[in-house]
Formats: sequence, C-alpha cells, structure tokens
Amino acid sequence: MTSNYQFSVLNNVVDSSSQKTRRISDCQFSRLVSRWALPWTSVKKPSTTPSIIDTFDMNKTIGSGAFSEVKEGIHKENGTKCAVKIFKKNVLKSSDISYLKEEIRVLQCLNHPHIIKLYGVSEEPYHYYLVTELVQGGELLRRVQTKKKYSEKEAKTLCQNIFDAITYIHSKNIVHRDLKPENILLIHEHTNVEIKIIDFGFAKRITPSTSLKTKCGSPFYVAPEILSKKPYTTQVDLWSIGVIVYLLLVGYLPFDGNDHPQLYRKIRRGKFSFHAKHWSEISHDAKDITSSLLTVNPDSRLTAKQALHHKWFWEGNNSMDPRAEEIIRNFHTSTNDVIHNQ
Ligand SMILES: Nc1ncnc2c1ncn2[C@@H]1O[C@H](COP(=O)(O)OP(=O)(O)O)[C@@H](O)[C@H]1O
Ligand SMILES: [Mg+2]
Repeated sequence: MTSNYQFSVLNNVVDSSSQKTRRISDCQFSRLVSRWALPWTSVKKPSTTPSIIDTFDMNKTIGSGAFSEVKEGIHKENGTKCAVKIFKKNVLKSSDISYLKEEIRVLQCLNHPHIIKLYGVSEEPYHYYLVTELVQGGELLRRVQTKKKYSEKEAKTLCQNIFDAITYIHSKNIVHRDLKPENILLIHEHTNVEIKIIDFGFAKRITPSTSLKTKCGSPFYVAPEILSKKPYTTQVDLWSIGVIVYLLLVGYLPFDGNDHPQLYRKIRRGKFSFHAKHWSEISHDAKDITSSLLTVNPDSRLTAKQALHHKWFWEGNNSMDPRAEEIIRNFHTSTNDVIHNQ
C-alpha cells in the first residue's frame, strides 16, 4: 500500500541498503529517520515510497488513549523496535487534528533524556502515524499500583527527573497540560526512577505573555485555575506534579470524589490532608514541596525551576522533623546567648 502524503520518509530506513540486514541502534535509527522529518505542511510523497505498514510489523498493541492506539513497531528490514501512535482519521474532528499538529510540532522542538523522542510522522489514506522511541518499563501508574507506594528516596529521584524535564519544557515556552502517571513511562522494568514523559497531545507552544483558556487535562490531576475557567499558564503542570508527588509518597490521591463535580469542588478549594497514618514517616521537606505545589494560587505555587532547587533535593539532606529543627534552632539561640554573654 502506498500513501498520498508523507511528513517523514520512514521508509528511507529500508532504502538505505547498507542497513538492510543489520540491526541498528535506537540512536542510529533516530538519526536515520529524523533526517527526513519534514514539517506538517503536506509534501507529496513519491509513489514508490512504502507506507508505514509496509515498513513495520505492528502486531502488538501497547497502549491506547482517547484518540489513539499505540503499537509496537518492528522494522521489517532491520528489526529495530519503536512505538507507533496511530490516529484514525475518520474519528478525528478538526479540533483534534489541530491538537495532533501541535503535538508533532512540540515534539519536534524537544530533545531531552526524560522526554520521548519523535522519530518521524506520516499521513496515510486512513491514518496518521507518529513513530517514537519505544519505552519498555510500563506506565508509572502501573508501577505505583504494583509497589503500593514509592520509598521517599526513590520518589525524590523520580521527581527530580520529572522537574528536570518540565524545567526544560517550560524553558522552551511549552506547556504539557496532561501530566499524570499514565503519561510517564519507566524506561526499564528494573528501574523505578528513570523515566520518559510522553503524550504531548494537549501540549502547546506559548509566548511568555500568553494566558491559556482551553479546559483540558485529566480529572484527578487538573489544576484549580483550569476548573475555575481563569486564564492559566505553564504553572498548571506544577499542580499536576504535586498530585503525582503525593501519589508516589503514599499510594493514594490527594483529591477524590464520588463524581466529577465533587472532585472539582475539592480541587478548587485545594484542601487536602497529610493523614498521620500514612504521612508520619515522611520528611518535613517532602510535605513542604507537596504543599508548595498543591497551592491554589498559581503565582504562589513553586515553578519547575524553584522545585528543582527545593531543599528536598539537597544532596545528603537528611530531612528533619520540624520539631527537631525547632529544638536545634533553640539550642543555637541559647548557645549564641551564652557566647554573647561571655
Ligand atoms: N513510546 C511509547 N513506548 C511505550 N508505550 C507507549 C509509548 N507511547 C505510548 N505508550 C502507551 O500508550 C498509552 C497511550 O499513549 P498516549 O501517547 O498517552 O496516547 P493518548 O493521547 O491517547 O493518551 C500510554 O499511556 C502508554 O501506555
Ligand atoms: Mg495518554
């Protein structure tokens, strides 16, 4: 089957005769494919170019979402694996296509170890295809469910990786708008902290003065300013990360409800608890960063960069109970008093 249009000539991997039988690394694969990446504007594809389905075996479904199905792709010639996100054209509204175009443009701007790499895209008669690197460790949500909760040490390293990626995204004036554990993948089964952020389907490039209005996101993770229909900024991502940090540390969500209206009321109020039963062993700094993220006023909420510099991440920080800190403060004060008096 051949396709009419092509944004990234994936089949050039096949055409490259020197690669025909040899298995190539992901990195080489990325270079080979992205070399051909073209902007969204339709470029007529030569009629001889094989389509995605002629290029990859795609038998295994590895995920699905509201608008797409994701399959593992195995290159027919060289065996290289990738993920192929497939969109059926007949179910996409024009607004969905705008989101898809933006997803592609955003991914083309990004190059970071904790963000999924786009290898190429293609339009074919009935589908759009996004070919990305394959991430094999599964969704963070599944990992939290399996582990019940993260140790604070592992949660800290994982969160550092998330803040690192989000600081980078925000520095490029891009907002993700759908951060949640389903959209964070672990790179291996044997690591709990090395991640890739995926699903830029709601992402948007903005200018520093842009304020967004579109209501989007996922119920448990959506920021209060989005629900209050206020103009919002990249700070919405920090709220979502606050929900993720809370979930990692204790294995349940800070805001819950019997239905969406009840859940949204709770989020808008921003009232949550550190229940003693679950939080007593958790450090003061972990609680502090969680509350500083789950702050209703986005201007008072930590930015990604501030979060990255939070005390929780200071090396060798054996975080103390606030009461112990107070005792030490008093001790210093009294010591100083004594020294002062000498
Ligand atoms: N690159 C990938 N590697 C492995 N699994 C992936 C990859 N991309 C997506 N998935 C799986 O497919 C699911 C849906 O993909 P996603 O991009 O989040 O689509 P949607 O926008 O429909 O939610 C993800 O939650 C994940 O389980
Ligand atoms: Mg998703």
